[in-house]
Amino acid sequence: MTSLATPPRTTNPFYRARPAAHSIPAVCAPQKVVIGDATLYRADCFDVLPTLAEIDTVITDPPYGIGFAYRSYDDDPADYDRLMSRLVPKLSRVTGNGPCFVWQSPLKADRWHRYFPEGFRIVAACKIPREHMGKQTCLSWDPVIFWSGRSLLKDELPRDWHVADLRPWDGYRGDNPVPCPRPLAQVQYFCNSVRGSTILDPFMGSGTTGVAAILAGKRFIGIERDPVYFEYACRRIEAASKEPRHAAV
Ligand SMILES: C[S@@+](CC[C@H](N)C(=O)[O-])C[C@H]1O[C@@H](n2cnc3c(N)ncnc32)[C@H](O)[C@@H]1O
Repeated sequence: MTSLATPPRTTNPFYRARPAAHSIPAVCAPQKVVIGDATLYRADCFDVLPTLAEIDTVITDPPYGIGFAYRSYDDDPADYDRLMSRLVPKLSRVTGNGPCFVWQSPLKADRWHRYFPEGFRIVAACKIPREHMGKQTCLSWDPVIFWSGRSLLKDELPRDWHVADLRPWDGYRGDNPVPCPRPLAQVQYFCNSVRGSTILDPFMGSGTTGVAAILAGKRFIGIERDPVYFEYACRRIEAASKEPRHAAV
């Protein structure tokens, strides 16, 4: 386990230093919480995934292996190959061979062919970020890897790209404890579009996929190992379950 006092190894320009929470343990005993249509596990996903079956769709944003400063997870670039090689077969099994949507860092694009099944596709989640230091920043995009032996990409999404206007971006505001959480508008495009009615995110973080899934009227299964992120996700998903559901696009 990484000491929370250790400065993170990172060259990531989006890294934001966060105060170490010494009073909160890095990981806790597993816990299962049910909130409406959401079943949430505070656990290591590699312990829970073998117990799950018949998941319609995976929509997830795993650690990128680029030295992000998570509260308890060590995002060591040296471990990335091992993480993805372990993960992809488990996601294929739990869904019965997809559909799976997995956010990635473009910094790892030279390795995707090693982990993802042959024929994988890249969806461009384009975003118009907020202004930075008074200047409008240019359009950028996040790659989302798709694979499925059960459907084509066109069966799941209206397009293999979309643009989310993030001005003002909800990602860096408020009290979200996760560094660089997914923008909700970006994840909603996927949750609102996919055919399946049960969505799994085994790297739930602050619960963005859970919020988007519940607002889309889907069932959600989320897994997160960090107790602080997990508690935050529970609160967000509980609030979302009290909001009106969106119609699918
Ligand atoms: C990129 S973040 C997810 C952020 C999330 N999309 C959001 O919007 O908040 C990846 C998350 O995976 C969690 N994580 C890393 N390894 C894990 C594991 N084996 N099981 C469960 N969660 C894990 C980390 O604690 C971190 O919260």
